[in-house]
Amino acid sequence: MSIYARLTGVGGYLPGQPVSNHDLAARGIDTSDEWIVERTGIRFRHLAAPGETASQMAAIAAGGALDMAGVASANLDLIIVATSTPDYIFPSTACILQGALGNKGATAFDVQAVCSGFIHALAIADKFIRSGSHKKALVVGADVFSRILDWHDRGTCVLFGDGAGAVVLEASEKPGILASALHADGSLVDILSVPGQVRNGKIWGDPFLRMEGHAVFKTAVRVLASVAEECCVAAGIASGDVDWLVPHQANIRIIDATSRKMKLPHEKVVTTVARHGNTSAASVPLALNEAVRDGRIGRGQRVLLEGVGGGFTWGAVLFEF
Ligand code: ACO
Repeated sequence: MSIYARLTGVGGYLPGQPVSNHDLAARGIDTSDEWIVERTGIRFRHLAAPGETASQMAAIAAGGALDMAGVASANLDLIIVATSTPDYIFPSTACILQGALGNKGATAFDVQAVCSGFIHALAIADKFIRSGSHKKALVVGADVFSRILDWHDRGTCVLFGDGAGAVVLEASEKPGILASALHADGSLVDILSVPGQVRNGKIWGDPFLRMEGHAVFKTAVRVLASVAEECCVAAGIASGDVDWLVPHQANIRIIDATSRKMKLPHEKVVTTVARHGNTSAASVPLALNEAVRDGRIGRGQRVLLEGVGGGFTWGAVLFEF
């Protein structure tokens, strides 16, 4: 009998009050609501409070997912956090989260695949569960990109926000995750990066997010459409049989171009980018959380999640809810 990894809980957290495009302009950034909305579809983002960390946001999102699943944190045997803005260099944010949740003994580690980190973490958790080694997994995407933005670079700082999203996966005879696909192309490291590090107590290099917007846009559309197709083929279904597409929430034009290539109508695509901008690893689980909680995504439906991010990395996970 097959073992599936079944999604039994979802959760999400956005810190503080929404910050509008007008608010950014009022804070002295040389931009406008019109420019940001037309190019990206983003209207608001949320920014973490000065001391607020990825693990703290992750704990709140995880609490929602565990409550929905009816799973006690002590019973988790796998905790994976996808983040590029960890609390510390080490230990992992997953271990810090584990401590905050009061879990002891679960396998816990971070995954670093930037904006496609949650997709990577979910696919990894699926493989752990299907192997039979683990039974109850918490998978979180949490990022505080406001800390790595150059607020003097209007081409990037308006695009991102902070947040966390989480899911609980449980071993089940019922489907479950049906297929996943993960890829990377290290020749594209420089189109999206934070090319700095801590050396001998000092910052070495550039600690801010740098992006070649046009190259990221073109690459994202190309790889998202192809990985969506790859995942559907692996599951033996046509892309038209997908009930919901929950894509990385970076830019409405990337989302529209991908769904057009997949021939999926707007009504089947979950978009939350207007309300929280690009929250990196949190973006897909935040959108999933919203669509499950408002009843759009129902049991038995087929959902395709997909992400793309620095590396370049990209991937997709197809599941039956
Ligand atoms: N407000 C006003 N004007 C701006 C802003 C801003 N925030 N940012 C840039 N501009 C100006 C530029 O200075 C430029 O002015 P100029 O013509 O006088 O030189 C003009 O707008 C056009 O700049 P472009 O960079 O050519 O603008 P473009 O239409 O390419 O849009 C954008 C930029 C939105 C970043 C686009 O390239 C894009 O969507 N790229 C994808 C990037 C993305 O989504 N990244 C998310 C992270 S990656 C990920 O998650 C995978």
